[in-house]
Amino acid sequence: MTPPAGSSDDRATRPERPASHLLGRLWDVVRPHQRWIWISFVLLLVNAGTRLLQPWLVKTALDDHLVADSLDGFFGLAALFLGVAAAEWAARRGQLLALERAGQDSLLDLRLKVFRHLQRLPMRYLDRTPTGRLVGRATTDVESLQEMFSSGLVTVLGDLVFLVAAVAILLSLSVPLTLASLLVVPVFVWVTVAVRKRARSAYQELRNRLSQMNADLHEQVSGMEIVQLFGQEDQSASRFAESNRGVLKSQLATVRWESLLSAATEMLGSFTTALILYWGGSLVLERLGVDAETAAAGGLTIGTLYAFVDYMQRMFVPLNDLSLRYTVFQNAMVASERIFSLLDEQTEPADPEDPKRADGPGRVRFERVTFGYDPREPVLVDFDLDVAPGETVAVVGPTGAGKTTILSLLTRLYDVQTGAIRLDEADVRELRRADLRRAVGVVTQDVFLFNGTILDNIRLGRPDASDEEVLSAAQALHLDEVVRRFPGGYAERVAERGRNLSAGEKQLIAFARMLLAEPKVLALDEATSNVDAHTEQLLQEAVARVMQGRTSIVIAHRLSTIRDADRILVLERGRIVEQGDHGELLALGGRYAALDARQ
Ligand SMILES: Nc1ncnc2c1ncn2[C@@H]1O[C@H](COP(=O)(O)OP(=O)(O)OP(=O)(O)O)[C@@H](O)[C@H]1O
Ligand SMILES: [Mg+2]
Repeated sequence: MTPPAGSSDDRATRPERPASHLLGRLWDVVRPHQRWIWISFVLLLVNAGTRLLQPWLVKTALDDHLVADSLDGFFGLAALFLGVAAAEWAARRGQLLALERAGQDSLLDLRLKVFRHLQRLPMRYLDRTPTGRLVGRATTDVESLQEMFSSGLVTVLGDLVFLVAAVAILLSLSVPLTLASLLVVPVFVWVTVAVRKRARSAYQELRNRLSQMNADLHEQVSGMEIVQLFGQEDQSASRFAESNRGVLKSQLATVRWESLLSAATEMLGSFTTALILYWGGSLVLERLGVDAETAAAGGLTIGTLYAFVDYMQRMFVPLNDLSLRYTVFQNAMVASERIFSLLDEQTEPADPEDPKRADGPGRVRFERVTFGYDPREPVLVDFDLDVAPGETVAVVGPTGAGKTTILSLLTRLYDVQTGAIRLDEADVRELRRADLRRAVGVVTQDVFLFNGTILDNIRLGRPDASDEEVLSAAQALHLDEVVRRFPGGYAERVAERGRNLSAGEKQLIAFARMLLAEPKVLALDEATSNVDAHTEQLLQEAVARVMQGRTSIVIAHRLSTIRDADRILVLERGRIVEQGDHGELLALGGRYAALDARQ
């Protein structure tokens, strides 16, 4: 059993909520697929029955035919045995398939549910939760559940049925011998519990180390560029070697416990067999020694002796599995607690029941807005802004002033603490998010491209746009000339995060998205930074083209790009310290003039 790798908060060994509660919620997930569970359960009973029947058939063959020296019906019995064995295998296979089907179907639902939930979590939550941990919910935690399904919680029921029935059969054969053989059961339980307890902490340790190693690996791979630039390969490798060794160490520890348990189980099994053979054997001899009349009173037949050995051996397997399944079950409970606590995490407030329509001309107003990512430390304070339809307002200011924050509030990635933001007459909170985000288009500071073709990435602006529309948007922005340089043209694959494109290329694609999306209000966040003079020229034209007739809020560090704005705000620590057009601000001789002089 390989425990799934988890994230840094995997330390909990026991779920805090009662297992019954978690099981109840898991059942809600499984319920739609319960018919597979029932099928599996029926097959399980068939399987247990066939396993119980086999030693009995051999016993009959021994006592009634071989010892009694009668071959009447002997071959029929052998054929029956074969049939029962075949039924056992078939039932086993069907049972496992059905169970796996129930598990996989349920986990598919659960994974999707987690994903849909992640999409609706507020930015505020995502800001403080490491990505790796969230990814772990939908992957490794769900895998822990899968292990529970495939190792078969339902199978446990079958094992219990088998054990109880086997003990009943043994008792019917010989009460004293049954009691004697079962003497080892408490020893077995004690050994198993003791070893499992230690093995569990070894598994816990292994899981933590694995998660540590995965975290290291993730960080080192995603930061490979910096590792290489700073010549940190050796340090990085030795750090990795260390966590790798840690994993090996814990892995070996778990193997030590597992092998101990498996050896102990076998030893106890052999001990029981020896006990039965010794005592049961003497009972058989006793029976063989006396004459046939008194035989029934005491002693044992050969067949019964065989049945005892066989049943006892068959009982050790499920006994051993029970303890293993308990560990799997515990892990699954911890994982399901994590999954459900994520699912319980408050999502963004729902869209209003009776949303206003975003069909005005595109006037944007901030009214005495105060907001802080941490409410105690406001980033914007009493911020007022009124942008008329079609007007272009530029925002400049030092890093950390709150420029990007203005856009995040406008698109409702965050909600204001006090004050209000209006798009035309509606408070943004009175609009459906989808409508708001269609009306306000943002080109962000770092453009995010997804795995796919260039065409797909532009189409993100309006998913229902035809190829022709996408191409004409690209052409309008001179993107054509850039794209033609790629061997695949518009079908060129974009690597993860757009790694194979330059910053300027990515920005052009982002503008093409906007041109396609046709938002009423355009918000550009440093959208024309870090590119060469020629691309800048292209971008400037692209910007002008996209801004045409739209309300625009443009954030810029380089003043050259915003000279023509209708109005320029200088933002410092969340407050507007100067505003006016380029000429007015220069004449003012304040912050803006100083910035301009420095460029
Ligand atoms: N998600 C966040 N969680 C917590 N604090 C944040 C978050 N984003 C930004 N901040 C903080 O809020 C303040 C304003 O950030 P903002 O991104 O608006 O600055 P900016 O003016 O856009 O800066 P830059 O010119 O560097 O882009 C900064 O002090 C920043 O540290
Ligand atoms: Mg910013």
